[in-house]
Order: sequence, then C-alpha cells, then structure tokens
Amino acid sequence: MRYNKNRPNRKELLLMASILVLNVLSLMDNGLQAQGLDRDSLNRQTQLDYEEMKQKLGLKAEMRPGPSGDLSAPNAANTDESKVRKYTLPDPLVSNEGDLITSDDAWWKIRRPQILKYLKTEMYGALPDILPSVTWQVVAENDTVIANYPVTEKLLIGKVDNASFPEIDVEIELLVGIPTAAAKAVPVVMEFGFIRWPFGSPPAEPNSYFISPYEPRWKQQLLTKGWGYAILVPSSIQADHGAGLRSGIIGLANKGKFRNPKQWGALRAWAWGASRAMDYFESDPVVDASRIGIEGTSRYGKAALVTMAFDDRFALGFIGSSGAGGASILRRNFGEQVENLASSAEYHWFCGNFLKYASDLTVDDLPIDAHSLVALCAPRPVFISAGSPFIEGQWVDAKGMFLSGVHASPVYELLGKKGFTSSDFPEMGTSMTEGEIAFRQHAGGHSTGPNWSTWIAWASRYWNQFK
Ligand code: GCU
Repeated sequence: MRYNKNRPNRKELLLMASILVLNVLSLMDNGLQAQGLDRDSLNRQTQLDYEEMKQKLGLKAEMRPGPSGDLSAPNAANTDESKVRKYTLPDPLVSNEGDLITSDDAWWKIRRPQILKYLKTEMYGALPDILPSVTWQVVAENDTVIANYPVTEKLLIGKVDNASFPEIDVEIELLVGIPTAAAKAVPVVMEFGFIRWPFGSPPAEPNSYFISPYEPRWKQQLLTKGWGYAILVPSSIQADHGAGLRSGIIGLANKGKFRNPKQWGALRAWAWGASRAMDYFESDPVVDASRIGIEGTSRYGKAALVTMAFDDRFALGFIGSSGAGGASILRRNFGEQVENLASSAEYHWFCGNFLKYASDLTVDDLPIDAHSLVALCAPRPVFISAGSPFIEGQWVDAKGMFLSGVHASPVYELLGKKGFTSSDFPEMGTSMTEGEIAFRQHAGGHSTGPNWSTWIAWASRYWNQFK
C-alpha cells in the first residue's frame, strides 16, 4: 500500500496509529501490556519458569549469584586487570578427539560441526525441528528524505503461521529503507532495534545513549554509500524476559508449554527472526541479498553475533558492546560473568542447559567460549565494537571482546583470511581493521554510533568491489 505523505486516508491513519501504539508499548514495557501482565506478575511468571527449568535439570547445587555491576557494592564485578585469573580456552583448532585441525576440509567437516553442536546444546539452544513459515507483507510505504538523501521506506510484517496453535500470534516487524534512486540492488545493513514513528523522519540514534555529536547518524552514513538500512524489532519475535518463553516464537513452536533444557533461548529466536528477514531480502529485487550486514548493541549485539554465526547468508557483522554471552571471553573474571547470565534476569537468552554452569558446573567446564562463536563466522568478516570504559563502564569487558577475536584468528587464517595483526589490546580509538576480524574501541558510550564510519570504511573493502 502506498500512501500520500501529506494526506493519508482514514484506514491508513488507523493503521499508523495502531502500529505507533504497538511500538510505544513494546518499547516501554517489552510486551507487558500485550500479555496483560504487570511487573509483579511478570516477575512471578519468570520465577516460575526459572524454577521449572532448574527442576528439569535436576541441579544439585544452588545457583551461584553473579557479581554486581555497581562498583561500590561489596560483591562488585572485577575491573582490575591484575586480578584476572589464568584460564585455558578450548582450542578451536583441536578436535574433541585431540587431533590438530590443519586443513579447510577438517575445519568444515570435523571441528566446526563439533563447536556448533556445543554452542547449541550448552549455550544458545537448538531450534525445534519444525518451525512455522513466515509470510511477509508490506503494510506501508513512504518516500522520505534523510539528510538530503531520498529514501523509500517500507514497513513490513512477517506473519508467522499459527495454525498449529492459534492462541499465540507472532508478527515480526521490519523496516527497510532503500535509496530511492538506486539503479540496481543495494547492500543493506540490518539493525536489531526499535522502529520509531513516523518512520522516515530522522530518528534519534537507536541504542545510543552517548553518541558523539561529530558522527553523522548511521542511516545517513549508509545512504552516502548508496546502501540501504533495515531495522528488525526483536520483541516482535520473542519477548525479552523469562515470563515470555511460553509465548512468542518459542512459545508458539512449543504450543504454549515450558521449554526443555535443550531448546532455544531468546538470542537464537531473535537470530531466527533475522534469518526470516533474510528470506525476505532474497525475494526483494531492490536488495542485494549477498551483501547483508547485521548490527546490534548490547543484548542485540549478542543477537547480531549469534545471527552471523548460525546463518552464513549474512555477509558482514557489526557486533556492538555485546559483552558476556556475546563476544566477551566468559572465562575472564572481568565485568559480567556466567552467573549473571544464568540468573533469572537473563537466563531466557540461552537454553536451560546453560544454567548448569552457574550451579553444578563452572565456566571452566564449558566446552566452548566466546571465541568459538566468533570462529563460526569465519571466513566472513566480523567487526567487534566497544565503547570507552570511562563512559560505557567495564561491565561489557572490552578487552575480553577483543580477546575472542585474538583466539578466533587462527580459524580465519586457516581459511586463508586475515585475523588480528596483533594480540596486544589496542589503545582506545585505534582501528584494527586490516583483516576479516576487526576491532575498535571508540571514545563514546554503550553504542555502535561512533564506530559507524570506521565500520563503513572497512565494509567498503568487501562491498565496493561488486559495484
Ligand atoms: C545488562 C546485561 C548485559 C546486556 C545489557 C543490555 O547489562 O547484563 O549482558 O548486554 O544489559 O543489553 O543492555
């Protein structure tokens, strides 16, 4: 449906209003109203789901509490580099049988499937064998201008077939903006984020609390390259709390029942939604589906990395301040720890099995770590982004994120690509963008914002050659 920007008709106004309300609600309360829950009952339901999972796992030990993000608390997380313990990481190039992986072939046939399996069974969970189909529909289209660049934006809904369990409705929200004058299919960078309304007017930078005033906004920067942008709304796929695990796509696939310990958590569900958006891109002639980037910050940075790792159709990654559960090495006792991730506030991002590592087992028992997830992206280029410790804080552990790149580099090199050129943590502001794993810690806050221009310069190396 195309509407005249100046005079939308009644039906369109109604649609616009209802989408606006929906977005504001999901932004403010992350689906609380939609489920008829207030904060107390949400906490109760989360606790119920959490206890149910612990019982299923038959854990003997209590869950260990994680450290506090409040640096003045007695149990504050470690932020002192001299107190980081020694740890040994699982070697991505040694198979479970103890064999050294020395060829491409052995990586693809032996070692990668082993790592993939561990990441599924122990951390992010497995997708159900049968998942419903998604039908994409353009619900509105709008010609607009962002910083002098004409853009055609489409708002899409991906309706998930719920014939198997009509009690649960899932409608995935996706915004796609393509330069209006594009003569051929363009690359697109998709962000996990929020769609603001009216879509098309220059929005505040999503996910950026402390954006550098000198960095033009991300959409504008992509448009200067002739590239498009997209925003996928994670909460329209799966709610961001344990109480929501019996609804959303996870609940729909489970017909409203509790998860078993192997089943997927929200991060894989969000990544599944990104894969469905990729299906859409493959069908849209204005999009070059071989040049799609995925970007996100914080929990959505984790989701972006999981998307890259599990779906090799995504060409480039921009992984913002993803921290623990994303690119930070979990074995490093710095900032957020496994015990925090496995608490009732965050366990829903993972499969139930992950709880074991904060109870009967420890982080050292994990057969993988964050570098394993980065290695799964190889040979595709991935950019790990962090903010300043003085503004962003140290919870995300910028050095821990850098180290996952260091320890994934041998896999990239085995596949004939370039990993990091140095294993020394670079000074803030230094771009390590020579290779297919890139890293930069910018001087801003908890956002990818100030790294966009560096990311685009790096991405141009891969995407311009097709022009
Ligand atoms: C918390 C959480 C992090 C997460 C962050 C966010 O700080 O501990 O793991 O990345 O929220 O997504 O904002």
